Amino acid sequence: MPSDPSTPRPASTPSVVAGANYVGWRVQAGWAPVEVVRAEGCRFWDAAGHEYLDFASQLVAMNLGFGNRAVAEAIAEQARTVAYVQPGFTTAARTRATEALRAVVPAHLTRFFFSTSGTEANEAALKIARLVTGRRKIIARHRSYHGSTAGSISVSGDLRRESVEGIHTVPGTVFGPECYCYRCPLGLTYPSCDVACVEEIENVLACDPDIAAVIVEPVVGTNGVILPVREYLPRLRAATRRHGALLIADEVMTGWGRTGSWFAVDQFGGEPDILTSAKGITSAYVPLGLTATTEAVYSAFRDKFFPHGHTYEAHPVAMAAAAAAIGEYQRLDLVAKSRRDGEYLLQKLEPLRTSHPIIGDVRGRGLFVAVELVRDRRTREPLGSPADKLGGALLPVDRVVAGLAGRGVYTFGWLNCVLLAPPLIIERSEIDQAVAALDATLRELGPSLLSAPRTAPT
Ligand SMILES: Cc1ncc(COP(=O)(O)O)c(C=O)c1O
Repeated sequence: MPSDPSTPRPASTPSVVAGANYVGWRVQAGWAPVEVVRAEGCRFWDAAGHEYLDFASQLVAMNLGFGNRAVAEAIAEQARTVAYVQPGFTTAARTRATEALRAVVPAHLTRFFFSTSGTEANEAALKIARLVTGRRKIIARHRSYHGSTAGSISVSGDLRRESVEGIHTVPGTVFGPECYCYRCPLGLTYPSCDVACVEEIENVLACDPDIAAVIVEPVVGTNGVILPVREYLPRLRAATRRHGALLIADEVMTGWGRTGSWFAVDQFGGEPDILTSAKGITSAYVPLGLTATTEAVYSAFRDKFFPHGHTYEAHPVAMAAAAAAIGEYQRLDLVAKSRRDGEYLLQKLEPLRTSHPIIGDVRGRGLFVAVELVRDRRTREPLGSPADKLGGALLPVDRVVAGLAGRGVYTFGWLNCVLLAPPLIIERSEIDQAVAALDATLRELGPSLLSAPRTAPT
């Protein structure tokens, strides 16, 4: 439910699409989608000829940008040769994807299940964790999103769960605190806190023998690019082991170089039993979800029925795209580039942090950065709340995102954070362009947003 890309520059003609299609995560009336007619590299153009710099990789997914020939050609070639076989068969593309994955995912994750989205990757992970442990409950964190179907939304802490709570959720989620030092949910300060947020989770594990797994986004994505302190994931890992629960790392957003390593767990630790991903695995050229597990997890099904699967499981075209996308990340050395460019982006944002009172925090790793908007730097009161969002208010962050789009920079906002996550092929001059647009937007809108009443009318 990021800010709606239809807001900034509405299409000039009434849309047949809007008249006939549902669109996710918004009130349906009033949807006026921008029609994208051309795209290349980090840029796309709408039907009215406006150019946008994509500073969000659409939904933090197009890590290679638009028009990557290697991926496009691999898809076309696969569609021409063996477009589809049912998942009980295999193809050369599936072999290539498997080999490519083996070279980049953490080495202890040796078994792969393929689906078509991050949601499905997590559904599989949750089912596997329950079946392997014989336990029913999952610990998740309040600031999290893991997907839109019954299982995955049930472990999603953010407001997207609220409208379906008890109607289309499964029982058994226990929510715990996240490691969010800027707004510590326990009111403590690092390092004197001794990472009490992980202790809270361990307490639940110790008291409840029915916990199958803890699911985390190693770096929380949509809910504000929240980085854990260095001890957090290793300690969470040790706690889950002590109590016989699995650790699931949801790397749907953070995988594929986004945070400056192939996966966030490569630098933040944790050694998960199950890692899920999607999005950048094909750079979003075709849909693909990945659930990677250890050999130990897999062995539970070696001689036992695996009660899961899809028609489009390991779809050959998606397999070809994944192998090609991973090859492109390697050829262009984009993981290291993301780390370097992320440092550059944070440096460029530093002067904005001091000059705009509306900015409470700027944080990130690699090309994955959030600018958090606050009403008051001292109290850190967020500028925009879940209640405002559910009430249909136009949030300050939506105005900032619209202001940026008006300046030709597409990004997305969530509650009180602007997320900056360009394709990893971004150039330094394009980073400069986006930061200048953010500076100008905040200079124009900042004072009025800070003085506006708490809930703005739509
Ligand atoms: C961390 C995380 N997990 C899961 C999902 C769901 O993925 P999908 O939208 O591909 O179903 C998302 C989507 O943004 C996500 O950010």
